[in-house]
Amino acid sequence: VTAEKAGFDHFMLKEIYEQPKAYRDTMMGRVSEDGRSVVLKEIGMTAEQIRGIRKVHIVACGTAFHAGLVGKTVIEGLARIPVETDVASEYRYRSPIITPDTLVIVVSQSGETADTLAALREAKRNGARVLAITNVVGSSVAREADDVIITQAGPEIAVASTKAYTSQLIAFNLFGLYLAQVLGTRDEAFVAEVLEAMHKLPEQVEAIIEQAPVLKQVADSISTHNNLFFIGRGVDFAVAQEGSLKLKEISYIHSEAYAAGELKHGTLALIEDGIPVIAVITQKDLYEKTLSNIKEVKARGAHVLGVVNAGMEEEVGKSVDELFVIPKTLQLLSPTLSVIPLQLISYYASLARGNDVDKPRNLAKSVTVE
Ligand code: G6P
Repeated sequence: VTAEKAGFDHFMLKEIYEQPKAYRDTMMGRVSEDGRSVVLKEIGMTAEQIRGIRKVHIVACGTAFHAGLVGKTVIEGLARIPVETDVASEYRYRSPIITPDTLVIVVSQSGETADTLAALREAKRNGARVLAITNVVGSSVAREADDVIITQAGPEIAVASTKAYTSQLIAFNLFGLYLAQVLGTRDEAFVAEVLEAMHKLPEQVEAIIEQAPVLKQVADSISTHNNLFFIGRGVDFAVAQEGSLKLKEISYIHSEAYAAGELKHGTLALIEDGIPVIAVITQKDLYEKTLSNIKEVKARGAHVLGVVNAGMEEEVGKSVDELFVIPKTLQLLSPTLSVIPLQLISYYASLARGNDVDKPRNLAKSVTVE
C-alpha cells in the first residue's frame, strides 16, 4: 500500500500533488499545434448541431456538481448559451424541461453514480444530446452518453475528490472555448490567450503546493473549531462550496458556504467571536463588494482568511487577518488555482483531528444506490 501511495502518507495528498500532471494530461492532444485553438475530436456534434443548442443542463452529484457550477459560468461566459445546474437526485424528480435542443452535460468522476446515470437516461429519453465529462473510460456514463470528454486525472482513490474535480474544470474550459470557436462568440486571439494561461496552470499549482506548510498552520488552528464559513461571489462562491464540502467530508467540522452578499439575510446571526471565515476573492470586478461583507463578519469577531489572486493582496490585505495569494491567472481560470489551498487546508485539518483522511466515516467513493 505504501508503494501505491508513492511515499505519501495518504492517497488524498498524493492526488493533490498529481494535479499539475492531471491538468497537462487533460489538455494533451486537445490544443492545436500552434496553441491557438481547441481540438476536441471526441465531440461528434456537427457545427450545425452546436449552433442548434438553445440551453445547457449540467447535472452531477457532490464534487462533480461543484465543478458543474464553475462550468455554468464558463459556458455562459464563453458561449452565451443559458445554463442550468442541478444535482442529479433533484433533476430527475422535478420534471425538467428537456427538449431536443437541450445539451445535457453529466459530470462524474467514476461514471457510475446511480443518480447521475438515471439523469442521463432521462435526458436521452427526452431527446436531448448528452455529453459526459468523466474520468473512467468504459464506465456506464461514458458508454451511454453521445459524446464523452475523458478527464485524464488517472485513478482517484481517496474518497475526497481533488484531481478529478480540477480536471473537470479543465475539461469545462476546453469545451467552453470549443463552443466559442464554433459559435464565433470569441475570436481566435482570445482563445489563444486563455490557452496560454491554461498552459501555465500546472506550474502555478506547483507553486501553491510548495506553500503547504503555511496552509497546515491555518488548518491546525481551524481544526480546533466546530463551525466555519466560506464566502465568495460568482465563481468564487462555487469554489467556496467545494472548499466547504471538502472540509466537511474529511475533517467533520461543520461548515457552510455562502454567497457573500447573502450573509446578511440570515447567516450573519451565526457569526460570533473567533469564528473562522475563509473568503475566496479572485474577481477584480466583485472584490469591493466582498470586502464590505468581510467587514461585516469582522465587526462581529470573525477571523478571516482571504484567498486572493496575485495583484489584489494590497486591496484585500488590509481587511483580512490572513492572506493566501494564488499566482496570477485569468479570472475565468481562477477556480483551478483557488481551490488548491482549500483542498490542502481540509487535508491538514482532517489530519490534525486524527481522522481517516482517505476513508471518511459514512462516505463511499462511488454511490451506486439512489
Ligand atoms: C461520492 C463521492 C464524492 C463524489 C460523488 C460523485 O459522494 O464521495 O467525492 O463527488 O460521489 O461521484 P462521481 O463519481 O459521480 O463524480
